[in-house]
Amino acid sequence: MKISAALSPFWDLLLAIQVALLPTLRSILANPTLLFRPNALTRIFMAYIWEGGFGNGTDENGRLPKTQLITPNAYGVVLDLGAGHGHAVQYLDRTKVTHYVALEPNAQMHPFIRASASPAGFSEADGTLVIIACGAEESHKILSALPNNRPVDTIISVLTLCTIPSPLKTLHNLVRDVLRADGGVFLFYEHVLSEREDVQWWQRVWTPVWTVPFDGCRLDRATHRWVRDLKIAGEDGAKEPEGAWREGELWGKEGESEENLFWHQAGRFVKE
Ligand SMILES: C[S@@+](CC[C@H](N)C(=O)[O-])C[C@H]1O[C@@H](n2cnc3c(N)ncnc32)[C@H](O)[C@@H]1O
Ligand SMILES: *[C@@H]1O[C@H](CO)[C@@H](O)[C@H](O)[C@H]1NC(C)=O
Repeated sequence: MKISAALSPFWDLLLAIQVALLPTLRSILANPTLLFRPNALTRIFMAYIWEGGFGNGTDENGRLPKTQLITPNAYGVVLDLGAGHGHAVQYLDRTKVTHYVALEPNAQMHPFIRASASPAGFSEADGTLVIIACGAEESHKILSALPNNRPVDTIISVLTLCTIPSPLKTLHNLVRDVLRADGGVFLFYEHVLSEREDVQWWQRVWTPVWTVPFDGCRLDRATHRWVRDLKIAGEDGAKEPEGAWREGELWGKEGESEENLFWHQAGRFVKE
């Protein structure tokens, strides 16, 4: 394992502090009670990181895999988990997608979602853009906020499953209750736990530091395997859990080094 790869998060952390510290201090001055609300504080810090170039930079880095994943596969009502600035909307094929539903608990990001959605042809005025301000773990709230309260055709997660609480349970409930049966597609592009032990070791070392400024983001989640192996329990718990997918595939990011601590996997899974 190259030492430069092992230490790479350090430079990102430094850059994150550089862009987000001053605006966060200004927010604290304007509203000192933030000091006693650590969750709100890390959220504000994350919002400034994203505004300070990380949002656009991360999108640029993932342009090719996101085009391959999202453009041919997303259709109907699309739910974007942890939409951030709504970068995913530009990859949607407007002739196949009827609604863009952006789930984003960080309200400071909502104006950016509106700004991204508008040139892509989605607006709140005609109901084709819906912004939901809760977390991915709140599946009942999500369902009740969806167009016609109906499950969606497509769920997209780009670099969000690293952050959500109780990821296994959240995934289970989203796929069972929020994704439409018989043809609903789950699309993700995530950085995940490496298959290599030396890389895993560094991912686990960095995670407790990384989570603080990046709103809970972890480097050590085997998200790709959790999605692939997902089983759905029957409504009343009487039935044995069954495989969630009719078909699916996993792939990596072209040209990415195995030593990258942010090792990416993409997946397309179709619900039974
Ligand atoms: C690394 S950003 C990715 C944003 C966007 N998907 C993109 O690709 O640019 C992770 C996002 O997840 C959001 N997030 C944090 N906690 C969440 C939760 N419990 N449920 C859903 N999203 C959450 C953050 O606010 C942030 O916008
Ligand atoms: C991100 O890039 C878009 C398109 O180039 C630009 O309009 C926007 O202002 C940028 N956002 C930030 C926060 O820098």
